[in-house]
Amino acid sequence: MEPVEIRKGVFYLGAQHWSRRLFDELIPLPEGTSYNAYLVLGREKTALIDTADPALENELMEALERMGVEKIDYVVANHAEQDHSGALPSLLERYPMAKVVTNQRCKELLVDLLHISDDRFYVVGDGDTLSLGGKTLRFILAPWVHWPETMFTYLEEEKILFTCDFLGAHMASNRVYAHRDPLVYFSAKRYYAEIMMPFRQTIPNHLARIEELSPEMIAPSHGLIYDDPSFILEAYRDWTGPEVKNEVLVVYVSMHGSVRAAVEHLTDGLSKNGIPVKVFNLTVTDIGELAMALVDAATVIMATPTVLGGPHPSALYATYLMGVLNPKTKHLAVITSYEWGGRTVEILKGFLDRLKVEILGAIEIKGHPKKGDMEAIDRLVEVVVEKHRSLKAD
Ligand code: FEO
Repeated sequence: MEPVEIRKGVFYLGAQHWSRRLFDELIPLPEGTSYNAYLVLGREKTALIDTADPALENELMEALERMGVEKIDYVVANHAEQDHSGALPSLLERYPMAKVVTNQRCKELLVDLLHISDDRFYVVGDGDTLSLGGKTLRFILAPWVHWPETMFTYLEEEKILFTCDFLGAHMASNRVYAHRDPLVYFSAKRYYAEIMMPFRQTIPNHLARIEELSPEMIAPSHGLIYDDPSFILEAYRDWTGPEVKNEVLVVYVSMHGSVRAAVEHLTDGLSKNGIPVKVFNLTVTDIGELAMALVDAATVIMATPTVLGGPHPSALYATYLMGVLNPKTKHLAVITSYEWGGRTVEILKGFLDRLKVEILGAIEIKGHPKKGDMEAIDRLVEVVVEKHRSLKAD
């Protein structure tokens, strides 16, 4: 993608990874992703903010060549993960006078991950500034969004905040600005769910610091640039805030139809009572979509057969993910079918220990559900309806 001047002397260099379908060998990328670098030209000095994944580093290098950039004084590393830092070794070779500007913790990670030598670093602390001549970079440490070393860079004169991963979205696009596009909202929510939600409790502090700055533009290193920062800031306040949605996620796997029969009865009961339900069959579910639904649903009901004494591995995987993603789910219930015993309920609860959820019930069905089992599900529906009475729908 051609460089785009977003403010005078500030250029967006976005490497679009249209075909990438998995991140960290875990996270599905239905819309690909981008690695955004930004070139800032001061009167005396030139800085590049973040770089690109090694897979697309040639695109970044070629863009700099096409722009005729002969000298880079500073490469700001907001984050050490290789999708933003991976092109650093090549850049430092091409621009031998360039210093890597970052905080001490990030420097340590870059030395470990990329073997960059000590003399190439210029270490900054929280609130430090660096003048490029008519353009001033201010560095804001923002640990745990989502690694311990992450920071933001603020271009004071233009009021642009470069947030690297934070507030980003995994989407490749030949557009530059997000405006208030619902599709960008959707991608950003998915990204929040997969990457940032585990750090939900610390995010409001970072949002407050950003609000103090009142940036006119937020430029992340994945996805599009927020020309109206309130769009993404309001969304993050909502996702990290205490309110949950009147919605039940029914997450299940069924081997021979017993669990499916229980799930259908449950879903019918919730629907008759006007409770919005999303059903995820784990044999076909995109785990990113499940993560996104977990952002604000009030209740999750996990249903699984008992296999070899415990939950089906798909249910175990989904439950483990839920535990580490740290959603604000309020209520949880478990349904299992078994034939000769097992510890399914106990094992699933163990994976969810860190979540502050209220367990609404655990229904253990011997074989295919019978009348008594369906009545137990009806009672669970009544409990869910009562818990959801005060909640609003979308
Ligand atoms: Fe986009 Fe944490 O890297």
